[in-house]
Amino acid sequence: MRGTYAIIGGAGFVGTNLALALLARGDAVSCLDHPGAAESPNVTAMQAYPGFRFVGGDVCDATCVRDFLDGEFDAVFHLASVVGVRNYLRDPMRLIEVNITGTRNVAQICAARDLRLVFTSTSEVLGRNPDAPWAEDADRVYGAPTVDRWAYGTSKGLAEHMLNAMVPDGLRASIVRFFNVYGPYQQPYFVVSKSLQHAMRGEAPLVYDSGKQTRCFTYIGDAVEACLAIAATRATIGGTYHIGSRFEWTIADIIAVIQRVTGNTHAAERFDTGYAYGTRYEDIERRVPDVSKIQRDTGWTARTDVETGIRRFRDWAYQNAWWMNLDNRVV
Ligand SMILES: NC(=O)c1ccc[n+]([C@@H]2O[C@H](COP(=O)([O-])OP(=O)(O)OC[C@H]3O[C@@H](n4cnc5c(N)ncnc54)[C@H](O)[C@@H]3O)[C@@H](O)[C@H]2O)c1
Repeated sequence: MRGTYAIIGGAGFVGTNLALALLARGDAVSCLDHPGAAESPNVTAMQAYPGFRFVGGDVCDATCVRDFLDGEFDAVFHLASVVGVRNYLRDPMRLIEVNITGTRNVAQICAARDLRLVFTSTSEVLGRNPDAPWAEDADRVYGAPTVDRWAYGTSKGLAEHMLNAMVPDGLRASIVRFFNVYGPYQQPYFVVSKSLQHAMRGEAPLVYDSGKQTRCFTYIGDAVEACLAIAATRATIGGTYHIGSRFEWTIADIIAVIQRVTGNTHAAERFDTGYAYGTRYEDIERRVPDVSKIQRDTGWTARTDVETGIRRFRDWAYQNAWWMNLDNRVV
């Protein structure tokens, strides 16, 4: 084996792709996730490799995290979170608990064992700052705490504060903020995954609100390479890095690409988030990263154009009937 890695929240979308990349190059991977994930297709895919170990447990349970991290690891990737608007609006307290208590557990144990930590934060930490593109030190701009959607970015931001406070005392941590990552193994309730599944099933894709909101869609293979580059670069310790594509797309335009590569010709239907989520939700009009810092410090840049990434995702979906049958309802 070349290296040994721990992934917390490793049965999810990013974790599975990260683990498969490490396992394919001959590394050993230990993954902590909810016990229920043991039977998931994601874990089944990882179990095809002899270097894979799955541990069922809760990141909010300090004993469980301590036992899981009882060993030598080249890096610990902490990915566990409650992800997706429908999930965090359903249970904002659970979201806050996982992001705060879970991250504190991981950080304290990594500090005590001198383990290298990479923590996955989000572009949502910057809220609705109107001055895109956003550098890592851009201001955080939020709505009221009565709007539950801000609990995700706020709690991730507090987790970032925690790590930044521990770095001067020796915690070897880097923070990465993803910008709209998409690709194989992603649950079908994010813009690309959901629209792709609709289109491949011959259904009408949904355009959220005006469709004029913009995002920088980042292919998972690029995001995995970025995480590995960060973990392997000593100079990134103590730093925060944006991981994203530089190309800005409207939601309506990305859905048009998805329809083109799948041959779907349905008129898109409009999904009104104000009606569906009420005042608990506000959308963010533009999310554009400045990625010059990660490029400067690691040489990484997103290489996969949107059409290539969507074609790869489509081809993977054709091979994975279980994914095509997943529930993609909005709430
Ligand atoms: N995918 C994106 O575009 C994106 C964008 C911004 C940030 N992120 C961040 O990247 C990380 C990974 O995201 P993802 O897209 O793979 O999400 P995901 O939901 O697919 O994976 C998260 C995993 O964490 C696990 N988890 C949640 N609570 C847990 C707990 N208490 N104990 C153990 N495991 C728990 C879940 O079961 C899941 O497998 C998250 O921290 C997320 O906030 C992702």
